[in-house]
Parts: sequence; C-alpha cells; structure tokens
Amino acid sequence: MVLDYESVRAPRKGMDMPPGLHAYIAGRIWLCSYPVKYLGMELTARMTVIRLEDGRLILHSPCEIDDHLRHALVELGEVACIVAPGTFHHLHVPSAQAAFPEAETFICPGIEGKRPDLHFDGLLGDIAPAAWAGQLEQVLVRGNRRIWEVAFFHRQTRTLILVDLIEKFTDATPKVDWKLKLWWKLVFHMWNTAKPAPEYQLGWSDRKAARASLLRILQWDFERVIPAHGDIVEADGRKAVENARRNILAG
Ligand SMILES: [Fe+2]
Repeated sequence: MVLDYESVRAPRKGMDMPPGLHAYIAGRIWLCSYPVKYLGMELTARMTVIRLEDGRLILHSPCEIDDHLRHALVELGEVACIVAPGTFHHLHVPSAQAAFPEAETFICPGIEGKRPDLHFDGLLGDIAPAAWAGQLEQVLVRGNRRIWEVAFFHRQTRTLILVDLIEKFTDATPKVDWKLKLWWKLVFHMWNTAKPAPEYQLGWSDRKAARASLLRILQWDFERVIPAHGDIVEADGRKAVENARRNILAG
C-alpha cells in the first residue's frame, strides 16, 4: 500500500476551510493552509510561496489552485517554479501545473516512483537549480526508508522551509483532528514538542546519512522554521532542529 495524503474538498463541521493566502513576511513569503486527510485523520498542510529577487514566485508544496487563488498569485508575480519538496507532498502538483503551465516543476527523489503520471522538469538534490541559486539553499534529507524531503533555507529572511522533518502540534494549534491528537499525544509523544513526523521516527535506516543531512541544515543561519503541518517555529528554530537531531541520535 502506498501511503499518501488524500484531498479534502468539502468543509466539514468543526473543520472549516482554513484561511487562504496570506502574507507571512512582507514582499517575500506567503502561506496558504489547506485540508488533507491521512489514514482517516484530517489535518492541514501548508503551501509556502516564495518571491525571488526578480519577482518570480516558487510554489512550495502547492495546494489546489482554484481561479480565486490563481488570480491572487498572479497579482504577486509570475509563478516560475512548482516544488514538490517531499515524498508525501505532491498531491496538488497537477493542479498547480494546470494553473501555471509555463512553470517548471521540481520534485523530491522518490516521487517519480509513487507518481509515474507526474510530469516534472528536474529532481531536487543538494545543489540549487539555476532558477533559485544564491537565494535558496537546499539539502536532501537522507537516511530514511519511508520518507524523503528536501529542506530549503531562504537566506534573505533566515527561514528554514520544511515539510515533515519538524512537526509541532500544540494546545494552540487550530483545527486538530481528535484522532491525530490522540496518536500524537499517547503513541508518538510529540504533543507540544517539535519532532520529526512519525514516518521519520519509524523509518530511520541510515543514521550516519541522516546525521550528515541534519548537520548540513544546522550550518544555516536560520531563526524561524515553516513546516507543512502544525505550528510555525517563530524563534529559536535551530533549537527545534537540534532537538530533532538528538532524537535521531538517541533512537
Ligand atoms: Fe506532510
């Protein structure tokens, strides 16, 4: 069985559609939360929109792009790149490609096997493609048999952009499914604390490679961390990643 997020289209009672695109760092980064379903649990995922220095946009882990959102993005700039940054974060790439057919698509290694239907222009690795070289740095997080992702560092705003390497669900996190809360609290012990997603915790197979990836991430001078789920780490992001590293080393 291939595990993946499922699309959630209709708002449900108690799980209203999250707010749309909003500015996170003026002129540089916008965010958009969207609902997904995973193993019967509903949760939100997060698209990050990054504006490059020449005004072009990157859609990182895109949500479904309807006409309203497409117009909002066009107002911000030319969508030049669509990024599927993790092996669990490719669901709405076709929607983004349909909305922005001129954009280039880059995917995390592993997606091409899960989604042979997906057209893409390049595989992501440790070297930034020309489209964003010098503005975003990246590391392919290795060493896990279940899940891969590419971590990005936006140098100008000192922001680390992840999908699943850090998840932080807390009492303040809005719209948390009770089943997820139960699992995260009682089984994975990751409530109110930032940890790698359970798929990471259950799947480390090459700790040396994992450690090397995390050490490379920790060389970046970031302050905040934007993960795809749960709370944003607004400050001391390095500490959150260091704690994640400690879990890997100790496990
Ligand atoms: Fe995820």
